[in-house]
Amino acid sequence: MPSTLDEGEYFAAYRRSLEDPEGFWLDAARDIDWATPPGRALDSSRAPLYGWFPDGRLNTCHNALDRHVEGGHGDRVALVYDSPVTDTVASYTYRELRDEVARFAGVLSDLGVTKGDRVAIYLPMIPEAVIAMLACARIGAVHSVVFGGFAAHELATRIDDARPKVVVSASCGIEPSRLVPYKPLLDAALTRAHHQPDHCVIRQRRQLPADLTERDIDWDEAMSKAAPVDCVTVDARDPLYVLYTSGTTGRPKGVVRDNGGHAVALRWSMENVFGAGPGDVFWAASDVGWVVGHSYIVYAPLLTGCTTVLYEGKPVGTPDAGALWRVVAQHRVNTLFTAPTAIRAVKREDPEGTLLRGHDTSSLRHLFLAGERLDPGTQHWAGGLLGIPVIDNWWQTETGWPIVANPVGLDPLPVKPGSAAVPMPGYDVRVLDTAGREVDAGTDGAVAIRLPLPPGTLTSLWGDDEWYVRSYLSAYEGYYLSGDGGHKDADGYVFIMGRTDDVINVAGHRLSTGALEEVLSGHPDVAECTVVGVADALKGQVPRGFVVLKAGTVRSPEEVVAELVALVRETIGPVAALRRVDIVAALPKTRSGKILRRTMREIADGGDPELPSTIDDPTVLDTLRPVLRGEA
Ligand code: COA
Ligand code: AMP
Repeated sequence: MPSTLDEGEYFAAYRRSLEDPEGFWLDAARDIDWATPPGRALDSSRAPLYGWFPDGRLNTCHNALDRHVEGGHGDRVALVYDSPVTDTVASYTYRELRDEVARFAGVLSDLGVTKGDRVAIYLPMIPEAVIAMLACARIGAVHSVVFGGFAAHELATRIDDARPKVVVSASCGIEPSRLVPYKPLLDAALTRAHHQPDHCVIRQRRQLPADLTERDIDWDEAMSKAAPVDCVTVDARDPLYVLYTSGTTGRPKGVVRDNGGHAVALRWSMENVFGAGPGDVFWAASDVGWVVGHSYIVYAPLLTGCTTVLYEGKPVGTPDAGALWRVVAQHRVNTLFTAPTAIRAVKREDPEGTLLRGHDTSSLRHLFLAGERLDPGTQHWAGGLLGIPVIDNWWQTETGWPIVANPVGLDPLPVKPGSAAVPMPGYDVRVLDTAGREVDAGTDGAVAIRLPLPPGTLTSLWGDDEWYVRSYLSAYEGYYLSGDGGHKDADGYVFIMGRTDDVINVAGHRLSTGALEEVLSGHPDVAECTVVGVADALKGQVPRGFVVLKAGTVRSPEEVVAELVALVRETIGPVAALRRVDIVAALPKTRSGKILRRTMREIADGGDPELPSTIDDPTVLDTLRPVLRGEA
């Protein structure tokens, strides 16, 4: 580690975490209430599959709720539900939330859900989402939350993989411009899915109540009959949840999180990375369907005894670009965490920050941004407007908490625009060349992490250890491959430059171009297609489709394009945001038939890349260039 960081609390913690992981993580584990405290931290017996706290036993829900009530903090507000789309603000104390969760755990138990069973949760940003997640944790069931912006096909894929006994959903979600009928989407998903749950518990919302069938159970009715149930002690290594994320193919990867390592790492991260402690108000303006929502709306703030804000709205349009500042002022938020795209949306509508005026945001200490690359312009704008540190942090669904960040709770390090700062304890981040050798400072390469990964990171992919090893642990022996490219500077700061695979990042949402291509190629008139992620001023990246039609297609190109856009929306969901598809004569390829996606992307982004020597027919690219640049 570099000389300039060789002092201070951060460096001491980082060095200890790598030299003495046992001592470091057993110390951190003291902040968790265990039924059986762990005597050991790391279990390497199944390397390269590592486990943490093999002899520890606990319950995550107990640590998130009961523990605080029993510790005398039952009247502290645990959750504030702020919903501009329904004009509602409501709050739950730790005692109230514990009681609701215990009762819903009773509902699940009455439906036959026991330890190890899966429960799929397809809900908008309403308190029932948090209640359902914690109720699963309470009885040792494994939740799998599916983001509401995904359509029936994606939901069905996840249901088939996780095989839930029960699905918890709502009659509708509320987007600023429309109601999203969740229940019909769920019904459509179950029509497609091979696996069928025994029951669906449906939260009826008055904005659009759903028709219930025999398999469906009304949330309110079930709650009124259920008796509360207690926490079930589980092994630290038992799974807490499965969260699906996009890989390079259409098949989503079910990231598995354990109970013990997760609780220890998240609790540690709150005070040391985020500088947030018990009683603080923490707001992650994300969605419970993403990892940021799992970790920093639900688990980490509650494990820490914070008040967490659950916001059912957008940064703009509900009602305006002052929404973030209104919520911060109204609930005296201390830490705000969102994605750069949310700040860019605010900046676009209110470049002078006039809507900040009139809101007292003096409670706010830090703004954390993650989920995509933080462009220095956005960081600078937000910092100037708010007068507080704006902290980038780099991580993934797989890791569950920041890999690289500026640990403001230990000692805030100087900010370098374009860098998320330095590796967090337990993450031995290395930049490697194609032969697996570490590259020099300033040189780009594959960003990898030496095994073992710290507690809180994925333990495997759901039901498929072999897939986990093949996808992440095989490229370089002894390393986890992040899928991101980047470099370190001479001070050890890490600069993440973007994915090296076919994953794209749209408004902080991770999507697979492979999955989008699968949908396009399913259209009867499509002979060949490709999807690339191109730079977008608001969303960071947006997908663009390029399609070669089958000879003899009778429909007009306009008709086909409209159908393709609609098909993606219906199959993957509105969140895929594929708006532009171009019909082209041919796709540029190498002589071995590989589509030159990277070259296409670089040209679309305004670059003039060198053509690969393996290119088959350069004239194809010449013809395509104006289309890629939006000039044709
Ligand atoms: N349920 C149903 N539909 C949803 C949805 C949900 N939970 N979330 C988004 N959608 C829909 C939107 O309504 C939109 O539909 P449309 O095409 O009919 O307009 C579509 O999916 C795309 O949504 P989004 O990517 O959010 O774009 P947007 O233009 O509506 O809003 C931002 C842009 C920047 C305001 C928005 O992306 C945002 O708030 N981002 C915050 C970042 C974030 O939460 N990241 C998660 C990781 S931290
Ligand atoms: P997700 O799993 O949806 O959280 O997406 C993880 C991916 O988002 C990473 O692999 C990166 O490509 C990207 N990402 C997340 N945070 C950052 C960041 N701070 N800087 C650059 N890229 C980021």
